[in-house]
Amino acid sequence: MLIALGVTGGIGAYKAVEVARGLQKRGHDVVAVMTAAAARFVGPITFEAITRRRVVLDQFEPGANAGIEHIALASTIDLLLVAPATANAIGKLANGIADDALTTLYVATRAPVLLAPSMNSQMFAHEAVRKNLDALAARGVRFVEPGEGYLACGWIGKGRLAEPEEIVAAAESILQPAGPLRGRRVLVTAGPTLEDIDPVRFIGNRSSGRMGFAIAAEAARRGAEVALVAGPTAIPPPPVGEVVRVRSAAEMHREVLARADDADVVIMAAAVADYAPAGPAGQKMAKTDGPITLALRPTPDILAELGNRRVAAGRGPVLVGFAAETGDLLARAAAKRARKRADLIVANDVSRSDAGFDVDSNEVTIIGPDGAAPLPLQGKDRVAAAILDRVERMLAGTPATSPQPFVEPDRG
Ligand code: CTP
Repeated sequence: MLIALGVTGGIGAYKAVEVARGLQKRGHDVVAVMTAAAARFVGPITFEAITRRRVVLDQFEPGANAGIEHIALASTIDLLLVAPATANAIGKLANGIADDALTTLYVATRAPVLLAPSMNSQMFAHEAVRKNLDALAARGVRFVEPGEGYLACGWIGKGRLAEPEEIVAAAESILQPAGPLRGRRVLVTAGPTLEDIDPVRFIGNRSSGRMGFAIAAEAARRGAEVALVAGPTAIPPPPVGEVVRVRSAAEMHREVLARADDADVVIMAAAVADYAPAGPAGQKMAKTDGPITLALRPTPDILAELGNRRVAAGRGPVLVGFAAETGDLLARAAAKRARKRADLIVANDVSRSDAGFDVDSNEVTIIGPDGAAPLPLQGKDRVAAAILDRVERMLAGTPATSPQPFVEPDRG
């Protein structure tokens, strides 16, 4: 989602930097819109570096008006968040005064508006400010209440800008319709891993990342906090909370293990290499006349390790694995489920041209504790939805972001 972060000239402006970071961590794109007074408190370059976008400072800046910037932005943002919102800014917004980029954006946009007021407590209590706040509330503007406590001006009272996490949470609750996976952490892997032979050659596989990306995107749409660990892919990953790029099975192992304890669900959709060159050459290997032999060592089996850890701890995330097979699909997949101690295995016949690797569709069978459920050939986004429906049923009745009690699947 694209959020315009309005920053006005209050001492709380420095906290807006943390707000921008918090929004980005949750996968949102942020464009900062600063008033002239705000730029006296925090340098625009700070916001530019963090948001990686040009900061909107002046609506009449030469070059900014080819697309009439405040109108172009007004129609593309999903939320206008103003933090801190000073008494002056609140007064202008309440009265439709549009004398700078931020106030003009407010009048021009139809996106939801969230204000985080910040001012001296006497100002906050003043009738003029109260009236302006009431007028904005009557128009559907929402607020993050300022906190009570010590104010920068030396007063004790209500007026201090709410904490950045609170502001980010308020923004999220507006942006994210309350989905069934809200409050759940979902860790997804996607794509292939590449195992280097020498500086220019590697062993890889045909996984495109599409299936894992579809699962990550669907989990985020359902309100989950998503971490995506992805091997090298040609297609871009979806904008979820955290995207970690890895290359090899060893890197994927490290990044997944670092996050698995905090996850409610781990979905291993990546096609992890089973073997890596035992000693990758430091220099490009020269051609020889005869055949050569490459020594390979097994990579760590990430899913099996998570499964074993869960058995040892007696609790852990819901575990979903994939089984890419070219024959004897169901028997091999069921055996994999038992061997890796996973809750669900998504079995996938990758010998077909319309399912599996590098196509948009897939035909899978979900194997769970209650048997095998075949799904029709359909788009990977629909397959992702079906997998998450099953995961939701497994999570039902357990508290959010806490490890799930583990019942060992039947062996065999
Ligand atoms: N997997 C893993 N770590 C590995 C290899 C595989 O976590 N080193 C995961 C995959 O992400 C997938 C599942 O295990 O979710 C099954 O992968 P697959 O390659 O089909 O199974 P293998 O264990 O490699 O078994 P085989 O190659 O004998 O079919």
